[in-house]
Amino acid sequence: MAWERTFAMLKPDTVQRALIGPVLTRLEAKGFRIAALKLIQVSPDQAARHYAVHEGKPFYQRLVQYIRSSPVVVLVLEAPDAVAQLRRYVGATKPNEAEPGTIRGDYGLDISNNLIHASDSPENAALETAVYFTPDEILDYRRSADGWLVEEQA
Ligand code: CMP
Repeated sequence: MAWERTFAMLKPDTVQRALIGPVLTRLEAKGFRIAALKLIQVSPDQAARHYAVHEGKPFYQRLVQYIRSSPVVVLVLEAPDAVAQLRRYVGATKPNEAEPGTIRGDYGLDISNNLIHASDSPENAALETAVYFTPDEILDYRRSADGWLVEEQA
């Protein structure tokens, strides 16, 4: 399986609950390679672009308000099959469906305050990455452990 990139955001509740460290620790322990990472305040334009797909839904206004209610951490992560691997590791959107062992299953109770966003397709990963990062902010490198994590080299 080829290595691919995905986009993730540690949402306002993760920052405000001082869970940046524990969530990043899990992502690193799983094996994801961090290609980009920064703490930002989401702008109105970025919120609109990120959540354009949800415009018109009943929760859209609350979603945009929430995502701008605190700084967030944005990340580009790499792994074989990264999009699917991260979605599974993050857990289901609805808190009562997120399995124990997933990030949402272990840390969350609420559908809005659900700790982390993970792109749902490689196409959306590219679109969402472009909302928050310029190409020069995404670093191309290898870790010595990559060959121990997966036999196929990145
Ligand atoms: P996420 O998948 O990261 O991006 C869309 C977000 O909308 C989702 O997480 C939820 O946090 C949020 N949301 C709020 N209410 C709902 C809802 N009723 N159905 C789906 N998503 C919701």
